[in-house]
Amino acid sequence: MNNVLAINGSPKMAKGRTAMVLTPFLDELEKQGANINLLYASRLKIKPCNCGRLYCWNNTPGHCIHKDEMEQVIPLLKQANILVFATPVYIPLPGEMQMFINRMTPLLDPQLEFIKGRTRIRFREDVQIDNIVLVATGGWWEKGNCDIVTQIIEHIASISQIPFGGAIIRPHAYMMKKDGQLTEDGKAVVQSIRKAAHELLETGEMTSNILEQISRPLISSDSYFNRGN
Ligand SMILES: Cc1cc2nc3c(=O)[nH]c(=O)nc-3n(C[C@H](O)[C@H](O)[C@H](O)COP(=O)(O)O)c2cc1C
Repeated sequence: MNNVLAINGSPKMAKGRTAMVLTPFLDELEKQGANINLLYASRLKIKPCNCGRLYCWNNTPGHCIHKDEMEQVIPLLKQANILVFATPVYIPLPGEMQMFINRMTPLLDPQLEFIKGRTRIRFREDVQIDNIVLVATGGWWEKGNCDIVTQIIEHIASISQIPFGGAIIRPHAYMMKKDGQLTEDGKAVVQSIRKAAHELLETGEMTSNILEQISRPLISSDSYFNRGN
């Protein structure tokens, strides 16, 4: 059984465009038998990672000094095998999302490794995560605007030596809807998102073909920049 933990970093939570893209993805994973846990970073009452001394590595291994809602989230993170970071692009991340990422530090084993010229780390033995996925939405026209977020999440996967299942990127995400309803293009994107969920469960990664369909332009750049709003 696949256990999926998704953390949505959008301050707009379930009403946001990130949720519009994340929901069919999680829905399809669930239909295929995965167990889903969805958290909203904005709803969590957690303090920032601010002891500045890596107490959770050196003094109280595996435990943060802060006693807050992260104590309930840590067991969910340990049980998950697929971890989905979902976020709007906020040059680069909403603060709550960054705070959540920092508060994952107790899950890491402080034993650093030096592999091919780069410092690497591993999650502790009781963490099951074996796949990391990104779902990101942006408002600007080009997909390249979201690269910074992809780099951050790919970096987390690569330093912790966890396979990266791929990045579902939806630039100018708001154009998937008109008057509150999915457009025909929006519906096609949702279908591709569902296919990507299948691929992830079947092979552990999403193909570049399907990811490109998800992030394809819904409007020409000329029309986008001359649309008059
Ligand atoms: C503070 C802020 C910064 C943003 N920065 C970017 C950006 O750098 N690139 C981009 O494409 N969109 C940017 N956006 C637009 C959002 O990423 C986009 O509208 C996103 O789909 C919103 O998702 P949500 O409704 O789930 O919050 C920004 C929005 C805000 C509020």
